[in-house]
Amino acid sequence: MKKILRLTAQTADRHRLYEDSVQNVDFEVEFFDRVFRRAFGRRANFLREDFCGTAQLGCRWVRSGPDRVALGVDLHGPTLAWGRRRNVAPLGAAAVRMRLLQDDVRNVRAPRADIVAATNFSWWTFKTHDALLVYLRNAYRSLRREGLLILDIFGGPEAQVAQEEARPCDGFTYVWDQDSFNPISHDYRCHIHFRFPDGSQMRRAFTYDWRLWSLPETRELLQRAGFADSVVYWEGADRSGEPNGVFRPGKRGDASPAWVAYIVAARRA
Ligand SMILES: C[S@@+](CC[C@H](N)C(=O)[O-])C[C@H]1O[C@@H](n2cnc3c(N)ncnc32)[C@H](O)[C@@H]1O
Repeated sequence: MKKILRLTAQTADRHRLYEDSVQNVDFEVEFFDRVFRRAFGRRANFLREDFCGTAQLGCRWVRSGPDRVALGVDLHGPTLAWGRRRNVAPLGAAAVRMRLLQDDVRNVRAPRADIVAATNFSWWTFKTHDALLVYLRNAYRSLRREGLLILDIFGGPEAQVAQEEARPCDGFTYVWDQDSFNPISHDYRCHIHFRFPDGSQMRRAFTYDWRLWSLPETRELLQRAGFADSVVYWEGADRSGEPNGVFRPGKRGDASPAWVAYIVAARRA
């Protein structure tokens, strides 16, 4: 705790800050488990984490059972190296079940996985229908005959507003900066900044150059890519109308100002 309180822009590690503020890998492993069982009535064992960054999710998957293996794919060597040191090595003997590959996610097809996951909206890096289709078709071919592609997505009118949103975390503040949105092209530029109790800041610790995709157009592209079906897991609300962290299959969402959802697309043959 003392160490956390001493964080400053000079001493903090941006990957650690990112993992602590953005990712919730315990939730995601449990969620992936649940949706795979629901789709195929059995346990998944091989997860491919696309755009894996530090591979925190893949490592959590490997920890969730001795039968479980993961492959993480990312273009960026230094981020993979960080993940190898900080997430894979601590797995000990189980590290042999976590493989990292430095490559473009559109190039990797083998070995085939039960689940391919692209989380934290990383797939928004593909900005045209053609580019996204190449990725989705490749993901389809990367799945076993029974397999799931899991994508997360956010939206709602607030997603299109240029704004900064600060959220306190342990020992620092996470700031989500929706820097610019172009309604004609849906080009979307966002940053993550971190602020520290001593007043120092890490500006633009991460920058994203994305297209803001919608649920219906993404699902249409999934169908064109060969997926038998896609299910939207929509987040429920508590009594006061706040999101409750429970995602269930839904056909009709509430038109809230901001929402996050998962698309679960199935390969069935
Ligand atoms: C937003 S981070 C995602 C980190 C992590 N998956 C998560 O859920 O938080 C995006 C990552 O995608 C990687 N990336 C971008 N384009 C890629 C591509 N075409 N193939 C593989 N990795 C890519 C970047 O190097 C970066 O590490």
